[in-house]
Amino acid sequence: MSQARSHWSNRWTFMLATAGSAIGLGNIWKFPYMTGVNGGSAFVLVFLACIAIVGIPLMMCEIMLGRRAQRNPIDGMHALAQEAGSSRHWKWVGVMGLFAGILILAFYSVIAGWILHYVVEAARGSFIGMDGERAASAFQQFLASPVELALWHTMFIGMTLGVVARGVNAGLEQANKILMPSLFAILLVLLGYSMSVGDFHAALHFMFTPDFSKVTPTAVLSALGHAFFSLSLGMGAVMVYGSYLQRHVSIARTSIYIALADTLVGLLVGIAIFALVFANHLEPGAGPGLIFQTLPIAFGRMPMGTIMGVLFFVLVAFAAWTSAISLVEPAVAWITENSRLNRKQSAWLIGIADWLLGIAVLLSFNLWQDIRLLFGLGIFDTLDKLTTTIMLPLGGLCMAVFAGWYMKTSHVAEELDISPLAYRAWRFTIRYISPLAIVAIFLYLTGLL
Ligand code: PHE
Repeated sequence: MSQARSHWSNRWTFMLATAGSAIGLGNIWKFPYMTGVNGGSAFVLVFLACIAIVGIPLMMCEIMLGRRAQRNPIDGMHALAQEAGSSRHWKWVGVMGLFAGILILAFYSVIAGWILHYVVEAARGSFIGMDGERAASAFQQFLASPVELALWHTMFIGMTLGVVARGVNAGLEQANKILMPSLFAILLVLLGYSMSVGDFHAALHFMFTPDFSKVTPTAVLSALGHAFFSLSLGMGAVMVYGSYLQRHVSIARTSIYIALADTLVGLLVGIAIFALVFANHLEPGAGPGLIFQTLPIAFGRMPMGTIMGVLFFVLVAFAAWTSAISLVEPAVAWITENSRLNRKQSAWLIGIADWLLGIAVLLSFNLWQDIRLLFGLGIFDTLDKLTTTIMLPLGGLCMAVFAGWYMKTSHVAEELDISPLAYRAWRFTIRYISPLAIVAIFLYLTGLL
């Protein structure tokens, strides 16, 4: 099962790239506002448990599948199914993942475009002296302008496919080597800032004082769904990154490091944001507008708020960029490996498709506001729900079932190379715990729970 194809230069670049995929808008935009909406600490604790119990075993599973296959997710699942003597229809897991990535990028790019716009707004000093009303109306006005939204969306799609077009080593690896260390450095600066001017104590209290009365079924299930999205699981991004991984690297250890980095960044960003929010007596439960409407008010009132505001949005943009790259890599790899198009042409093709889809998404915030697709949701919400709550968990479920029940135990054990006890624990999780947890999400979603 080998083919002449690119590989990461070493295990660090693989870790940086996979952490880059995991750390994204999910950590910085979604996680803090979900924590705010779901009552703080209880949600954080449940999320940590989900990462440990379901997230890490599934991450090991996906990297394992990719590395064994040494191919893009579609051909990879096909080849692995052949090796295991099972149905070639397993390749549909790869197909679904590939489409999920394209669909996610369509709305991811629109939100990332807002982030780019906010970098510029922060730099222009627009946050200075902002009150709640002005913050809200500035945000609404921006959303009402399709041209402006399209401009930033176009730029983000260009940035993303521009990197992917350059290939694994000159593109993905190079971008992550620059962006990820910068992201960590900015995060430390912001944390120091928020520690000195923010209400750190209130933030820690809000995020870490457990109040088990707030652990509702809804909190548990949304934490589980978010663990998936946050670790980039279930769509083949981690699998395709795993397929560029050399044989000798320990999958278990790397998975744990990546999950830790992802979680830590989510928590630290959360602390930094809430410390600023509480110091200004603002509302932590503002929902998706938390970083666009609440946070600018805080920056606008604080010393060095302009520069810190710029740094904050640059941090988010870097995080979104490295995730976006991994969303389209499965599709670009598949086209490149299966057609006469080269990588650059494949990237153009996917870029155009995602650009068009993204235009529909951004119009759903203004001109096409009233269009309803699935479940009576607008275009943006439909894509978000369809991918993060259906396609990703379904993909994860199939991968877990395939690895746990269909692959030869000896092949899996050879690939994972961990102690017999650890292997038994992993196998039990992947055969029973992960599938049950995912089925629970589905039952809940369809209103049966
Ligand atoms: N993990 C990314 C985030 O937290 C999103 C993502 C999902 C990226 C699936 C790739 C695949 O923002």
